[in-house]
Amino acid sequence: MNADAIQGGTTAAAHPNLALVKYWGQRQAALNLPLNNSISLNLDGATTHTTVMFDTTLPHDRVVINQALASPAAAQRVSAHLDRIRAIAGVDTRALVISHNDFPAEAGVASSAAAFAALTLAATHALGLQFDDRRLSALARLGSGSACRSIPDGFVEWVAAEADEDSYAYAIAPCGHWDLNVTTIFFGSHAKEVSSLEGHRAADTSPFFTTRMAGIDTTLERVRSAILRRDLLELGLLIEREAISLHVIAMTSQPPERPWMSGIYYWQPQTLDLIQRVQQWRRQGLQVYFTLDAGPSVHLIYEEDDRASILAHVTPAIAELGAGVIHSRPGRGAWLVPLDEVPAPALDPTCRM
Ligand code: DP6
Repeated sequence: MNADAIQGGTTAAAHPNLALVKYWGQRQAALNLPLNNSISLNLDGATTHTTVMFDTTLPHDRVVINQALASPAAAQRVSAHLDRIRAIAGVDTRALVISHNDFPAEAGVASSAAAFAALTLAATHALGLQFDDRRLSALARLGSGSACRSIPDGFVEWVAAEADEDSYAYAIAPCGHWDLNVTTIFFGSHAKEVSSLEGHRAADTSPFFTTRMAGIDTTLERVRSAILRRDLLELGLLIEREAISLHVIAMTSQPPERPWMSGIYYWQPQTLDLIQRVQQWRRQGLQVYFTLDAGPSVHLIYEEDDRASILAHVTPAIAELGAGVIHSRPGRGAWLVPLDEVPAPALDPTCRM
């Protein structure tokens, strides 16, 4: 297959999303059904473009990620998702999938969320399926749980429901609602030893999990309300405690396949260093808050008006820690990309060795 052949493909793009109220623990693993609602915002500083072309001459799916042939495990995950979409469309045609991230893998932003959101939109569209956002979101969830939150625009809530079609994400406010800044700080390539999947499975082994679940509806209500009122003072401490709650659960969970572990540690020394700096900066009067996902990266959240004064503190700290950085604002939901706007690597089926 040469580069011209992909001209017939469909390309979609999506941003990763950052959870303010976390998804941690599953009601049903096979369908990625969560135990609690979660709330996120899309990060416009990072984008995945995914091109899908169904081709009757292909004997099997071919998956290219970041200009390299996908690992067997990654290719299998993509094929399983395409199978769901092929089953709905009633076709058996194999596909060429080319996915490209404009951000480094070690950044600690959920590339799988952006990837499965973009893949769902591109593949359904390529097969002529016209789905609304609710259906796209529920379908993306089957590829990667948090991918459902990258389908709608801006600030998003994912509903924890018992039935597959009822667990989807919707926008609680559009991306233009609040000019928040998110600065993601990451520290080199610390390969994650325990995947989010294993973390979800182990969550209810923590003695603190029932306490977390008992308070989650109040947290959701307060976070939702703080977003709608654009109240960073209220939102900030809530999301910090919420992030720490996830890590308390992880650090006191027993992953079934790892009996030698007393808990899962996603932090690096730089993670705690930055948490302490953020508290110090606030003591000095700066309105900056952090959140963390299942990894060592720290995401700082602050308002546009404070950007210059906050970056005057943050930028030297990033240099001192030798960290990488991505700056984002709230981003749009997944979208289709016209051919002339697709970045070249998302159209190139050849692989670099
Ligand atoms: C800690 O199961 O969606 O980011 O598919 O591995 O990307 P992957 O993860 P997923 O779990 C995400 C867990 C989290 C919290 C969150 O995003 O809500």
